[in-house]
Amino acid sequence: MKIGVIGTGYVGLALACLADFDNEVLFVGRSADKINNLKRGILPIYEKGLDEIVKRNLEKNKIDSTTDYERLKDAEMIFICVGTPSLSDGSIDLSQIKIASESLGALIKNTNDYKTIVVKSTVVPGTTKNIVIQALEKASGKKAGADFGVCMNPEFLREGTAVYDFLYPDKVVIGRYDEKSSSTVTKLYEFYGNKVPTMTTDLNTAEMIKYAQNAALASRVSFINEIANICEKFEVDVYEVAMAIGLDSRIGPKFLNAGAGFGGSCFPKDVKALLATAKSVGTNPILLDAILEVNKYQPHRMIDLAKQVLGNLRGKKIAILGLAFKSDTDDMREASSIQIINSLLMENATVKVYDPQSIGSAKKIFGGSIEYCSSKDECIKGADLCMIVTEWDEFKQINLSEIRCPIIDGRRVLNPLSVKQHGIVYKGIGWKNN
Ligand code: UGA
Repeated sequence: MKIGVIGTGYVGLALACLADFDNEVLFVGRSADKINNLKRGILPIYEKGLDEIVKRNLEKNKIDSTTDYERLKDAEMIFICVGTPSLSDGSIDLSQIKIASESLGALIKNTNDYKTIVVKSTVVPGTTKNIVIQALEKASGKKAGADFGVCMNPEFLREGTAVYDFLYPDKVVIGRYDEKSSSTVTKLYEFYGNKVPTMTTDLNTAEMIKYAQNAALASRVSFINEIANICEKFEVDVYEVAMAIGLDSRIGPKFLNAGAGFGGSCFPKDVKALLATAKSVGTNPILLDAILEVNKYQPHRMIDLAKQVLGNLRGKKIAILGLAFKSDTDDMREASSIQIINSLLMENATVKVYDPQSIGSAKKIFGGSIEYCSSKDECIKGADLCMIVTEWDEFKQINLSEIRCPIIDGRRVLNPLSVKQHGIVYKGIGWKNN
Protein backbone atom coordinates (compact mmCIF):
# COMPACT_ATOMS: atom_id res chain seq x y z
CA MET A 1 0.00 0.00 0.00
CA LYS A 2 1.18 3.58 -0.67
CA ILE A 3 1.11 5.34 2.67
CA GLY A 4 1.55 9.02 3.48
CA VAL A 5 2.59 10.18 6.96
CA ILE A 6 2.19 13.82 7.97
CA GLY A 7 4.47 14.63 10.88
CA THR A 8 7.97 13.39 11.63
CA GLY A 9 7.91 13.19 15.42
CA TYR A 10 7.89 9.90 17.37
CA VAL A 11 4.38 8.93 16.29
CA GLY A 12 5.00 9.55 12.60
CA LEU A 13 8.51 8.13 12.40
CA ALA A 14 7.50 4.86 14.07
CA LEU A 15 5.33 4.23 10.98
CA ALA A 16 8.58 3.70 9.07
CA CYS A 17 8.13 0.12 10.35
CA LEU A 18 5.27 -0.26 7.84
CA ALA A 19 7.85 -0.20 5.03
CA ASP A 20 9.04 -3.63 6.21
CA PHE A 21 5.57 -5.01 5.44
CA ASP A 22 5.12 -4.42 1.70
CA ASN A 23 4.22 -0.76 1.98
CA GLU A 24 5.77 2.42 0.60
CA VAL A 25 5.94 5.22 3.15
CA LEU A 26 6.19 8.90 2.25
CA PHE A 27 6.85 11.30 5.13
CA VAL A 28 5.64 14.87 4.85
CA GLY A 29 7.08 17.51 7.15
CA ARG A 30 7.34 21.28 7.33
CA SER A 31 11.03 21.61 8.16
CA ALA A 32 13.18 21.33 5.03
CA ASP A 33 16.23 20.54 7.19
CA LYS A 34 14.52 17.64 8.95
CA ILE A 35 13.20 16.28 5.67
CA ASN A 36 16.61 16.51 3.98
CA ASN A 37 18.18 14.69 6.92
CA LEU A 38 15.50 12.04 6.83
CA LYS A 39 16.22 11.49 3.14
CA ARG A 40 19.76 10.63 4.20
CA GLY A 41 18.62 8.39 7.04
CA ILE A 42 19.32 10.92 9.79
CA LEU A 43 16.46 10.90 12.29
CA PRO A 44 15.55 13.92 14.46
CA ILE A 45 15.11 11.61 17.46
CA TYR A 46 16.99 8.74 19.05
CA GLU A 47 14.86 5.60 18.99
CA LYS A 48 16.44 2.17 19.33
CA GLY A 49 16.37 0.23 16.02
CA LEU A 50 14.46 2.84 14.03
CA ASP A 51 17.41 4.27 12.12
CA GLU A 52 18.27 0.78 10.78
CA ILE A 53 14.69 0.35 9.56
CA VAL A 54 14.74 3.76 7.87
CA LYS A 55 18.14 3.17 6.26
CA ARG A 56 17.18 -0.33 5.07
CA ASN A 57 14.02 0.97 3.40
CA LEU A 58 15.65 4.09 1.97
CA GLU A 59 17.99 1.76 0.10
CA LYS A 60 15.01 -0.20 -1.24
CA ASN A 61 13.26 3.07 -2.19
CA LYS A 62 10.38 2.15 0.11
CA ILE A 63 10.73 5.28 2.24
CA ASP A 64 10.89 8.84 1.01
CA SER A 65 10.31 12.29 2.52
CA THR A 66 9.09 15.63 1.25
CA THR A 67 7.80 19.04 2.31
CA ASP A 68 5.34 19.00 -0.59
CA TYR A 69 1.77 17.83 0.19
CA GLU A 70 1.13 17.41 -3.55
CA ARG A 71 3.29 14.28 -3.49
CA LEU A 72 0.60 12.63 -1.37
CA LYS A 73 -1.69 12.49 -4.37
CA ASP A 74 -0.78 8.83 -5.02
CA ALA A 75 -1.17 7.74 -1.39
CA GLU A 76 -4.07 5.42 -0.61
CA MET A 77 -3.88 6.00 3.13
CA ILE A 78 -2.61 9.13 4.89
CA PHE A 79 -1.81 9.22 8.59
CA ILE A 80 -2.04 12.53 10.46
CA CYS A 81 0.72 12.34 13.08
CA VAL A 82 1.34 16.01 13.85
CA GLY A 83 1.98 17.29 17.39
CA THR A 84 -0.78 18.33 19.77
CA PRO A 85 1.19 20.27 22.42
CA SER A 86 -0.25 21.55 25.71
CA LEU A 87 -1.63 25.06 25.97
CA SER A 88 -1.22 27.00 29.22
CA ASP A 89 -4.64 25.84 30.52
CA GLY A 90 -3.74 22.16 29.93
CA SER A 91 -5.94 21.79 26.85
CA ILE A 92 -4.25 20.80 23.58
CA ASP A 93 -3.24 23.02 20.70
CA LEU A 94 -5.04 21.70 17.62
CA SER A 95 -3.57 24.20 15.17
CA GLN A 96 -1.28 21.66 13.46
CA ILE A 97 -4.20 19.21 13.18
CA LYS A 98 -6.28 21.92 11.50
CA ILE A 99 -3.51 22.88 9.07
CA ALA A 100 -2.86 19.23 8.14
CA SER A 101 -6.59 18.57 7.63
CA GLU A 102 -7.03 21.69 5.48
CA SER A 103 -3.99 20.83 3.37
CA LEU A 104 -5.27 17.28 2.89
CA GLY A 105 -8.71 18.64 2.01
CA ALA A 106 -7.13 20.78 -0.73
CA LEU A 107 -5.33 17.69 -2.04
CA ILE A 108 -8.52 15.59 -2.00
CA LYS A 109 -10.32 18.33 -3.93
CA ASN A 110 -8.03 17.76 -6.89
CA THR A 111 -7.88 13.95 -6.89
CA ASN A 112 -10.46 11.42 -7.89
CA ASP A 113 -9.08 8.40 -5.97
CA TYR A 114 -10.66 7.40 -2.68
CA LYS A 115 -8.21 8.14 0.14
CA THR A 116 -8.38 6.99 3.72
CA ILE A 117 -7.35 9.66 6.22
CA VAL A 118 -6.24 8.22 9.57
CA VAL A 119 -5.76 10.39 12.65
CA LYS A 120 -2.94 9.00 14.78
CA SER A 121 -2.08 12.14 16.74
CA THR A 122 -3.38 12.07 20.31
CA VAL A 123 -6.53 14.18 20.23
CA VAL A 124 -9.35 14.68 22.73
CA PRO A 125 -12.75 13.06 22.07
CA GLY A 126 -14.68 14.89 19.37
CA THR A 127 -11.62 16.21 17.50
CA THR A 128 -11.70 13.89 14.47
CA LYS A 129 -15.43 14.39 14.04
CA ASN A 130 -15.63 18.12 14.73
CA ILE A 131 -12.28 19.47 13.57
CA VAL A 132 -10.66 17.03 11.13
CA ILE A 133 -13.72 15.94 9.15
CA GLN A 134 -15.12 19.46 9.01
CA ALA A 135 -11.82 20.89 7.72
CA LEU A 136 -11.42 18.06 5.19
CA GLU A 137 -14.96 18.51 3.86
CA LYS A 138 -14.73 22.29 3.74
CA ALA A 139 -11.40 22.37 1.91
CA SER A 140 -12.26 19.53 -0.49
CA GLY A 141 -15.90 20.31 -1.13
CA LYS A 142 -16.38 16.52 -0.85
CA LYS A 143 -18.13 14.23 1.63
CA ALA A 144 -16.41 12.10 4.28
CA GLY A 145 -17.58 8.50 4.11
CA ALA A 146 -18.55 8.83 0.45
CA ASP A 147 -15.66 10.54 -1.38
CA PHE A 148 -12.93 9.80 1.16
CA GLY A 149 -12.68 7.76 4.34
CA VAL A 150 -11.77 8.73 7.91
CA CYS A 151 -10.50 6.65 10.84
CA MET A 152 -8.91 7.34 14.21
CA ASN A 153 -6.15 4.88 15.10
CA PRO A 154 -4.43 5.77 18.40
CA GLU A 155 -0.87 4.62 19.08
CA PHE A 156 0.31 2.99 22.29
CA LEU A 157 4.07 2.95 21.62
CA ARG A 158 6.55 3.78 24.35
CA GLU A 159 9.57 5.89 23.55
CA GLY A 160 12.70 3.77 23.69
CA THR A 161 10.83 0.58 22.74
CA ALA A 162 8.70 1.99 19.92
CA VAL A 163 9.94 -0.53 17.33
CA TYR A 164 9.31 -3.50 19.61
CA ASP A 165 5.89 -2.12 20.60
CA PHE A 166 5.04 -1.61 16.92
CA LEU A 167 5.93 -5.19 16.06
CA TYR A 168 4.28 -6.74 19.13
CA PRO A 169 1.37 -4.54 20.19
CA ASP A 170 -1.17 -5.66 22.81
CA LYS A 171 -3.98 -4.45 20.57
CA VAL A 172 -4.98 -2.34 17.58
CA VAL A 173 -7.80 0.17 18.05
CA ILE A 174 -9.61 1.49 14.98
CA GLY A 175 -12.18 4.22 15.38
CA ARG A 176 -14.20 4.35 12.19
CA TYR A 177 -16.32 6.95 10.49
CA ASP A 178 -17.11 4.76 7.52
CA GLU A 179 -17.01 1.02 6.87
CA LYS A 180 -14.75 1.16 3.80
CA SER A 181 -11.91 3.01 5.49
CA SER A 182 -11.98 0.81 8.60
CA SER A 183 -11.62 -2.29 6.38
CA THR A 184 -8.68 -0.61 4.62
CA VAL A 185 -6.98 0.08 7.97
CA THR A 186 -7.77 -3.47 9.15
CA LYS A 187 -6.16 -4.76 5.95
CA LEU A 188 -3.03 -2.68 6.58
CA TYR A 189 -2.57 -4.39 9.95
CA GLU A 190 -3.20 -7.90 8.58
CA PHE A 191 0.52 -8.65 8.98
CA TYR A 192 -0.12 -9.04 12.73
CA GLY A 193 -2.14 -12.18 11.91
CA ASN A 194 -4.64 -13.20 14.56
CA LYS A 195 -2.18 -12.78 17.43
CA VAL A 196 -3.13 -9.15 18.01
CA PRO A 197 -6.72 -8.31 19.00
CA THR A 198 -8.23 -5.55 16.86
CA MET A 199 -11.02 -3.49 18.33
CA THR A 200 -13.15 -1.49 15.92
CA THR A 201 -15.21 1.27 17.45
CA ASP A 202 -16.40 4.81 16.77
CA LEU A 203 -14.18 7.90 16.50
CA ASN A 204 -14.85 9.41 19.94
CA THR A 205 -14.32 6.06 21.69
CA ALA A 206 -10.97 5.50 19.95
CA GLU A 207 -9.84 8.98 21.02
CA MET A 208 -11.01 8.34 24.60
CA ILE A 209 -9.28 4.93 24.80
CA LYS A 210 -5.91 6.62 24.24
CA TYR A 211 -6.43 9.14 27.05
CA ALA A 212 -8.00 6.65 29.46
CA GLN A 213 -5.08 4.26 28.94
CA ASN A 214 -2.39 6.87 29.61
CA ALA A 215 -4.34 8.21 32.60
CA ALA A 216 -4.65 4.66 33.99
CA LEU A 217 -0.90 4.08 33.67
CA ALA A 218 -0.02 7.49 35.11
CA SER A 219 -2.42 6.87 38.00
CA ARG A 220 -0.58 3.63 38.87
CA VAL A 221 2.72 5.54 38.98
CA SER A 222 1.29 8.32 41.16
CA PHE A 223 -0.46 5.73 43.34
CA ILE A 224 2.75 3.81 44.05
CA ASN A 225 4.66 7.06 44.58
CA GLU A 226 2.12 8.09 47.21
CA ILE A 227 2.39 4.66 48.85
CA ALA A 228 6.22 5.02 48.72
CA ASN A 229 6.10 8.26 50.64
CA ILE A 230 3.94 6.62 53.34
CA CYS A 231 6.13 3.47 53.38
CA GLU A 232 9.23 5.49 54.27
CA LYS A 233 7.55 6.68 57.49
CA PHE A 234 6.98 3.08 58.64
CA GLU A 235 10.35 1.63 57.63
CA VAL A 236 8.69 -0.34 54.83
CA ASP A 237 10.27 -0.89 51.40
CA VAL A 238 7.75 0.11 48.72
CA TYR A 239 9.40 -2.21 46.18
CA GLU A 240 8.57 -5.19 48.41
CA VAL A 241 5.00 -3.93 48.70
CA ALA A 242 4.74 -3.39 44.91
CA MET A 243 6.08 -6.87 44.23
CA ALA A 244 3.48 -8.45 46.51
CA ILE A 245 0.48 -6.47 45.28
CA GLY A 246 1.63 -7.00 41.69
CA LEU A 247 1.31 -10.75 42.19
CA ASP A 248 -2.43 -10.29 42.54
CA SER A 249 -3.72 -11.00 39.06
CA ARG A 250 -6.27 -8.21 39.41
CA ILE A 251 -3.41 -5.69 39.86
CA GLY A 252 -0.43 -7.07 37.89
CA PRO A 253 3.23 -6.06 38.28
CA LYS A 254 3.78 -3.33 35.66
CA PHE A 255 4.00 0.43 36.21
CA LEU A 256 4.44 0.07 39.96
CA ASN A 257 8.03 1.36 40.13
CA ALA A 258 8.08 4.20 42.64
CA GLY A 259 10.48 7.05 41.96
CA ALA A 260 11.12 10.69 41.20
CA GLY A 261 7.89 11.06 39.18
CA PHE A 262 6.74 10.49 35.62
CA GLY A 263 7.69 12.73 32.72
CA GLY A 264 7.78 12.65 28.94
CA SER A 265 5.68 14.08 26.20
CA CYS A 266 2.67 11.90 26.94
CA PHE A 267 1.59 11.26 30.55
CA PRO A 268 1.80 14.88 31.78
CA LYS A 269 0.30 16.32 28.58
CA ASP A 270 -2.43 13.71 28.21
CA VAL A 271 -3.60 13.75 31.82
CA LYS A 272 -3.70 17.57 31.70
CA ALA A 273 -5.67 17.49 28.42
CA LEU A 274 -8.17 14.94 29.74
CA LEU A 275 -8.56 17.01 32.90
CA ALA A 276 -9.15 20.21 30.91
CA THR A 277 -11.61 18.42 28.59
CA ALA A 278 -13.47 16.88 31.52
CA LYS A 279 -13.78 20.29 33.19
CA SER A 280 -14.90 21.90 29.95
CA VAL A 281 -17.89 19.54 29.82
CA GLY A 282 -18.80 20.17 33.46
CA THR A 283 -17.46 17.04 35.18
CA ASN A 284 -15.26 17.17 38.27
CA PRO A 285 -12.20 14.92 37.61
CA ILE A 286 -10.81 14.69 41.17
CA LEU A 287 -8.61 11.68 40.50
CA LEU A 288 -6.98 13.14 37.36
CA ASP A 289 -6.11 16.23 39.36
CA ALA A 290 -4.56 14.08 42.12
CA ILE A 291 -2.39 12.14 39.62
CA LEU A 292 -0.73 15.40 38.60
CA GLU A 293 -0.51 16.77 42.15
CA VAL A 294 1.32 13.69 43.42
CA ASN A 295 3.63 13.84 40.41
CA LYS A 296 4.49 17.50 40.94
CA TYR A 297 5.68 16.68 44.44
CA GLN A 298 7.92 13.66 43.63
CA PRO A 299 11.01 15.51 42.30
CA HIS A 300 10.99 17.60 45.49
CA ARG A 301 11.23 14.38 47.51
CA MET A 302 14.72 13.99 45.99
CA ILE A 303 15.65 17.41 47.36
CA ASP A 304 14.21 16.50 50.79
CA LEU A 305 16.33 13.35 50.86
CA ALA A 306 19.42 15.35 49.79
CA LYS A 307 18.83 17.76 52.66
CA GLN A 308 18.45 14.86 55.10
CA VAL A 309 21.98 13.82 54.14
CA LEU A 310 23.78 17.14 53.62
CA GLY A 311 21.68 19.65 55.54
CA ASN A 312 22.13 22.95 53.70
CA LEU A 313 22.82 22.39 49.98
CA ARG A 314 24.52 25.78 49.40
CA GLY A 315 27.89 25.32 47.69
CA LYS A 316 27.54 21.51 47.64
CA LYS A 317 28.59 19.67 44.49
CA ILE A 318 25.73 17.42 43.34
CA ALA A 319 26.23 14.77 40.62
CA ILE A 320 23.10 14.00 38.63
CA LEU A 321 23.11 10.65 36.83
CA GLY A 322 20.37 10.61 34.22
CA LEU A 323 18.52 13.49 32.58
CA ALA A 324 16.13 11.83 30.13
CA PHE A 325 12.54 11.28 31.33
CA LYS A 326 13.29 7.56 31.14
CA SER A 327 16.05 5.31 29.81
CA ASP A 328 16.72 4.53 26.13
CA THR A 329 15.70 7.97 24.91
CA ASP A 330 17.30 11.40 24.62
CA ASP A 331 13.98 13.06 25.41
CA MET A 332 13.94 15.46 28.36
CA ARG A 333 10.41 16.77 27.90
CA GLU A 334 8.82 17.18 31.38
CA ALA A 335 11.67 15.09 32.83
CA SER A 336 11.91 15.04 36.65
CA SER A 337 15.59 15.96 36.24
CA ILE A 338 14.58 19.48 35.15
CA GLN A 339 12.70 20.23 38.36
CA ILE A 340 15.40 18.59 40.47
CA ILE A 341 18.22 20.60 38.85
CA ASN A 342 16.26 23.86 39.05
CA SER A 343 15.60 23.27 42.75
CA LEU A 344 19.27 22.49 43.40
CA LEU A 345 20.31 25.68 41.59
CA MET A 346 17.79 27.64 43.69
CA GLU A 347 19.49 26.18 46.78
CA ASN A 348 22.82 27.47 45.38
CA ALA A 349 24.26 23.99 44.90
CA THR A 350 26.73 23.26 42.08
CA VAL A 351 25.33 20.73 39.61
CA LYS A 352 27.27 18.26 37.42
CA VAL A 353 25.31 16.04 35.07
CA TYR A 354 25.76 12.93 32.96
CA ASP A 355 23.35 11.11 30.66
CA PRO A 356 24.25 8.66 27.88
CA GLN A 357 21.94 10.42 25.36
CA SER A 358 20.52 13.69 26.68
CA ILE A 359 23.49 16.02 27.17
CA GLY A 360 22.54 17.88 23.96
CA SER A 361 18.95 18.37 25.14
CA ALA A 362 20.19 19.47 28.59
CA LYS A 363 22.50 22.11 27.11
CA LYS A 364 19.50 23.70 25.41
CA ILE A 365 17.68 23.92 28.75
CA PHE A 366 20.44 24.79 31.23
CA GLY A 367 23.12 26.42 29.06
CA GLY A 368 26.13 27.34 31.16
CA SER A 369 24.46 27.06 34.57
CA ILE A 370 25.53 23.43 35.12
CA GLU A 371 28.58 21.31 34.32
CA TYR A 372 28.27 18.56 31.66
CA CYS A 373 30.25 15.33 32.01
CA SER A 374 31.07 12.70 29.42
CA SER A 375 30.93 9.69 31.74
CA LYS A 376 29.29 8.64 34.98
CA ASP A 377 32.70 8.32 36.65
CA GLU A 378 33.66 11.88 35.69
CA CYS A 379 30.31 13.08 37.04
CA ILE A 380 30.58 11.34 40.42
CA LYS A 381 34.26 12.25 40.96
CA GLY A 382 34.61 14.87 43.70
CA ALA A 383 30.83 15.16 44.25
CA ASP A 384 29.35 15.66 47.73
CA LEU A 385 26.26 13.70 46.73
CA CYS A 386 25.08 11.61 43.78
CA MET A 387 21.46 11.49 42.62
CA ILE A 388 20.23 8.81 40.20
CA VAL A 389 17.33 10.31 38.26
CA THR A 390 16.97 8.03 35.18
CA GLU A 391 17.01 4.22 35.20
CA TRP A 392 19.73 3.73 32.54
CA ASP A 393 21.17 0.20 32.62
CA GLU A 394 24.73 1.53 32.78
CA PHE A 395 24.04 3.05 36.21
CA LYS A 396 23.43 -0.47 37.54
CA GLN A 397 27.10 -1.15 36.76
CA ILE A 398 28.47 1.69 38.93
CA ASN A 399 31.69 0.63 40.60
CA LEU A 400 30.65 1.08 44.22
CA SER A 401 34.24 0.68 45.46
CA GLU A 402 35.08 3.98 43.71
CA ILE A 403 32.20 5.96 45.24
CA ARG A 404 33.04 8.30 48.08
CA CYS A 405 29.76 10.21 48.41
CA PRO A 406 26.19 9.39 49.55
CA ILE A 407 23.71 8.23 46.91
CA ILE A 408 20.06 9.24 46.52
CA ASP A 409 18.44 6.69 44.25
CA GLY A 410 15.38 8.14 42.51
CA ARG A 411 14.65 5.04 40.43
CA ARG A 412 15.79 2.09 42.58
CA VAL A 413 18.56 1.36 40.12
CA LEU A 414 20.91 0.06 42.81
CA ASN A 415 20.46 -2.60 45.42
CA PRO A 416 20.36 -0.58 48.68
CA LEU A 417 21.96 -3.40 50.67
CA SER A 418 24.98 -3.72 48.33
CA VAL A 419 25.46 0.06 48.46
CA LYS A 420 25.40 -0.02 52.25
CA GLN A 421 27.83 -2.96 52.31
CA HIS A 422 30.32 -0.62 50.61
CA GLY A 423 29.94 1.80 53.52
CA ILE A 424 28.05 4.30 51.35
CA VAL A 425 25.08 6.27 52.70
CA TYR A 426 22.02 5.25 50.65
CA LYS A 427 18.63 6.92 50.46
CA GLY A 428 15.91 6.20 47.96
CA ILE A 429 12.29 6.96 47.22
CA GLY A 430 10.24 4.44 49.17
CA TRP A 431 13.29 2.81 50.80
CA LYS A 432 12.68 1.59 54.34
CA ASN A 433 15.83 2.91 55.98
CA ASN A 434 16.00 6.51 54.76
C1 UGA B 1 3.58 6.31 27.37
C2 UGA B 1 2.75 5.01 27.30
O1 UGA B 1 3.37 4.01 28.09
C3 UGA B 1 2.61 4.52 25.86
O2 UGA B 1 1.77 3.38 25.81
C4 UGA B 1 2.00 5.65 25.01
O3 UGA B 1 1.88 5.29 23.65
C5 UGA B 1 2.89 6.89 25.11
O4 UGA B 1 2.98 7.28 26.50
C6 UGA B 1 2.24 7.97 24.30
O5 UGA B 1 1.15 8.42 24.68
O6 UGA B 1 2.74 8.28 23.22
P1 UGA B 1 6.19 6.87 27.28
O7 UGA B 1 5.79 8.25 27.66
O8 UGA B 1 7.13 6.68 26.16
O9 UGA B 1 4.89 5.99 26.92
O10 UGA B 1 6.88 6.21 28.54
P2 UGA B 1 6.51 5.22 29.73
O11 UGA B 1 7.35 4.03 29.64
O12 UGA B 1 5.05 5.00 29.80
O13 UGA B 1 6.97 6.07 30.99
C7 UGA B 1 6.41 7.33 31.30
C8 UGA B 1 6.99 7.88 32.57
O14 UGA B 1 6.54 7.13 33.70
C9 UGA B 1 8.53 7.85 32.64
O15 UGA B 1 9.01 9.06 33.19
C10 UGA B 1 8.83 6.69 33.56
O16 UGA B 1 10.05 6.84 34.25
C11 UGA B 1 7.65 6.78 34.52
N1 UGA B 1 7.36 5.48 35.16
C12 UGA B 1 6.92 4.44 34.42
C13 UGA B 1 7.55 5.36 36.52
O17 UGA B 1 7.95 6.31 37.23
N2 UGA B 1 7.26 4.15 37.11
C14 UGA B 1 6.81 3.09 36.40
O18 UGA B 1 6.56 2.01 37.01
C15 UGA B 1 6.64 3.23 35.03
